[in-house]
Amino acid sequence: MIITTRDLRKQYGKLTAVKDVNLTLQRGEILGLVGPNGAGKTTLLKMLSTLIEPTTGSIEIMGFNIWKERLQVRKHIGYLPDFFNLYDDLKLWELLYFFAQTYGVPEDERDLRVNTALEDTNLLIKRDDFIKNLSRGMTQRVGLATLLVHQPDIFLLDEPASGLDPQARITLRTILKKLAKKGKTLIVSSHILTELDDFCSHIAIMNKGELVLHDEVKEIHRKLKGEHTLKLKVLNMFDKAKDTLKSNPSITSLSGADGIFSLGYSGDDKIIAKINADLVSNGIEVIHLQREQKNLEGLFMELTEELNLSV
Ligand SMILES: Nc1ncnc2c1ncn2[C@@H]1O[C@H](COP(=O)(O)OP(=O)(O)O)[C@@H](O)[C@H]1O
Ligand SMILES: [Mg+2]
Repeated sequence: MIITTRDLRKQYGKLTAVKDVNLTLQRGEILGLVGPNGAGKTTLLKMLSTLIEPTTGSIEIMGFNIWKERLQVRKHIGYLPDFFNLYDDLKLWELLYFFAQTYGVPEDERDLRVNTALEDTNLLIKRDDFIKNLSRGMTQRVGLATLLVHQPDIFLLDEPASGLDPQARITLRTILKKLAKKGKTLIVSSHILTELDDFCSHIAIMNKGELVLHDEVKEIHRKLKGEHTLKLKVLNMFDKAKDTLKSNPSITSLSGADGIFSLGYSGDDKIIAKINADLVSNGIEVIHLQREQKNLEGLFMELTEELNLSV
């Protein structure tokens, strides 16, 4: 494992920003860290990058206990914060050269490092441009390039695609995929799941500080394939309707209130007919039944919804 967290927690007074997170990453993985605003993504990434100390729990990166051995660990980590400022008045190559110097790259290697970083972020043609004249998409890539000059093994990128147009997003994805192919390990956060699911190898969903799902993208899709959601509305006897639904063994999840239910089930359409028949034979008036194929976005909403009334 390249990254292992054990019961990692960050407490701000009474607020638990990150709650007992156990996460593992292997070399070459791209983990999409998703969750609504306030879920704890930034706090988690800051702990992984040794910028803030965990309240309890531990992090191991490449065999180091990161808080105790943070100087050794930092060499391996490239952290891109959600907001960063670059020295606007420098030309792009000057900025990267400055970073190479700061990271202690030997003088005779600096030019090569700078050029490789520019090449890897599709910015070679902007080499002599001033930072202040670059577009937002390019500036995000410059941020990435500043990390590349010190050749970290692990990239922790906080909402790098935020505010980018679709074209710039695609370029960024391609660059990140290439890094993973070279054996780098990446965590990329976003509050928008669809920004991530088509290029990440793994997805972790956070909600209120907790890790509510962590799996391989293809495994999540495989599981979703066999699962459906049924939206259901009844006019009367809400509690009885709920009990009737709960007693059906094909129903795997159930949420909702005031006669409007959303339920998950596995199986074919006959199950819907049976659900309807059971409700009707109990005197419940069913006025709406709608089957939906569950998708990743739906799963995300279900796991992070504010008013999740799961029973
Ligand atoms: N330095 C801090 N002091 C107090 N509360 C904080 C601090 N940093 C973050 N929080 C709180 O912790 C929670 C998680 O925040 P954050 O990690 O920024 O979430 P995300 O990046 O998923 O939006 C939020 O409720 C936020 O207000
Ligand atoms: Mg954040």
